[in-house]
Amino acid sequence: MIGNDIAHAAALLQQGEVIGIPTETVYGLAGNALDEATVAKIFSIKQRPFFDPLIVHVANVNQLENWVKNIPKSARQLAEKFMPGALTLLLEKKSAIPDLVTAGSKLVAMRIPAHPMAQALLDMLPFPLAAPSANPFGYISPTSAAHVAHQLGDSIPYILDGGLCAIGLESTIVGFPEGKATIFRKGGIAVEAIEEVIGEALVQSHSSSNPQAPGMLKSHYAPRIPLILGKLEELVPQYHNKRVGILSFQEKFAEIPSERQFALSSSGDYTEAARNLFSAMRYLDRQPIDFIIAELLPEKDLGRAINDRLRRASVIK
Ligand code: TXA
Ligand code: MG
Repeated sequence: MIGNDIAHAAALLQQGEVIGIPTETVYGLAGNALDEATVAKIFSIKQRPFFDPLIVHVANVNQLENWVKNIPKSARQLAEKFMPGALTLLLEKKSAIPDLVTAGSKLVAMRIPAHPMAQALLDMLPFPLAAPSANPFGYISPTSAAHVAHQLGDSIPYILDGGLCAIGLESTIVGFPEGKATIFRKGGIAVEAIEEVIGEALVQSHSSSNPQAPGMLKSHYAPRIPLILGKLEELVPQYHNKRVGILSFQEKFAEIPSERQFALSSSGDYTEAARNLFSAMRYLDRQPIDFIIAELLPEKDLGRAINDRLRRASVIK
């Protein structure tokens, strides 16, 4: 069931249920992070392997201290600037966080969502929420309650509807191995904005094979219809006798039916493009086409995180 009853959502969570919740990045599949049976249920509903850890969500920066041992200086600076918001910090966990949540890692991923309904919900609860994105493992993250209902509606008792996600990309994940601020997932906060706050370049973690962020597998975020990346001016004529859909940054193509095209932002706005990306992929995935052909954005600002998702979604890695 989809609804906007926050008290009902809180009551279900108190009973150990797993529900869909809105955040400003993507919808989460949430449950009591301190209860192992609930956490196990999250993995099973999402069909997620147990080696891929979950993010823990709290209401405010003060609550971080309840669950993590120490917060390095640059983590504090980032928390001050971007929390609540689309930032997740990898920090040393206290023992109250079950090992199941972190897949046995000493580090826990902590996030404070800014969405007002998520905030209100967390304020009502005496425990933090473990929540991965509310999609089946390997599919595109949901940016509306309807997206969640479409794929997981039968497996969960409630989806709290907070409208369309304002950011539309998962949070940016930053950790501090050997004291160096390191990016583990590009996301809703641009690398440039983070580097400005910490005053130095982020170390790049090598994503797909990185044991510290096993969720960054290359097969992530993929639509079912094969997505081909390249230059659209070349791909459109190359695929002229195939049924294709187009995922472009700004342009539409006169020779392709308009309902098979999605331009992420006709004005070239990165924030708008990010907000539209996953809806666009889902939309095209439902069209009667054999291929989605898509182009990368300029490699800057949120364009970098969008490109990361497009590369993971594409069939040619
Ligand atoms: O925006 C978001 O981050 C959304 C919303 C719901 O908060 N959540 C989300 O969760 O995207 P999920 O589970 O789909 O992606 C979390 C990523 C995974 O790649 C996982 O491997 C990584 O975070 N992660 C979680 N805990 C970790 C840990 N302890 N150490 C390293 N990586 C971790
Ligand atoms: Mg996910």
